[in-house]
Amino acid sequence: MSRGLFITLEGLDGSGKTTQINRLSTWLKQRGHAPLVTRQPGGTATGDRIRSLVLDSRSTGLAPMAEMALMFADRAQAIAEVIEPALKAGQIVLCDRFTDSTEAYQGGGRELGSSVVLELHRLLCGNLQPGLTLLLLPGLEASLARARHRNQRTADENGADENRFEQEQEAFYRRVWQKYREIAAREPARVVLIEGDLSIDEVHERIVEAVSERLAGSIRALRTD
Ligand code: TMP
Repeated sequence: MSRGLFITLEGLDGSGKTTQINRLSTWLKQRGHAPLVTRQPGGTATGDRIRSLVLDSRSTGLAPMAEMALMFADRAQAIAEVIEPALKAGQIVLCDRFTDSTEAYQGGGRELGSSVVLELHRLLCGNLQPGLTLLLLPGLEASLARARHRNQRTADENGADENRFEQEQEAFYRRVWQKYREIAAREPARVVLIEGDLSIDEVHERIVEAVSERLAGSIRALRTD
């Protein structure tokens, strides 16, 4: 049994990741694949509990290091329980956020730096690397406008509480955006950067192009084994 393909989607809040992951999953199913779709934080029973703790705006005063540790606790559980078994079984895994989010939000946004994140990833996650990361990054101004809009909307709705990050200020999102760009520049072979203010269909097309290339690559690798 050949190992599956691990694909992650990344981007700022409101970048359309969830819509795109669902469209990609449908596209893959139409081509005979059975992708496993998961998200972080969350995706396991333990992870869902961590998710409510870390995203609930009532979790006030959470220290940045504690926040990062919770993200990694969630990830280590998801890898053991869901991601590794699926990859071993040859499945394609689509994961909404992974360690790049920790590097961007805690490393960049919370200013903990990249090296502690990468070191914890090595220690706690066996340095598992996605085969492909799709990074959705509209221009900084559009991203900030979306983040502000979401802040306002969630404040107005005052509903289900997953709003802790959305209360952050512009400077926080600016650092997250910057760190994402840094990651893309550092790892061009893994990260496909989808930039600019594109329509949902245009982003989907770019994603399909990148995924098709990887799938063709895995088939070529199998034939030469
Ligand atoms: P989302 O599920 O809507 O993408 O929201 C998850 C939030 O959690 C989002 O604001 C980003 C944040 N987050 C981190 O700060 N660090 C992480 O490692 C992950 C996975 C998410």
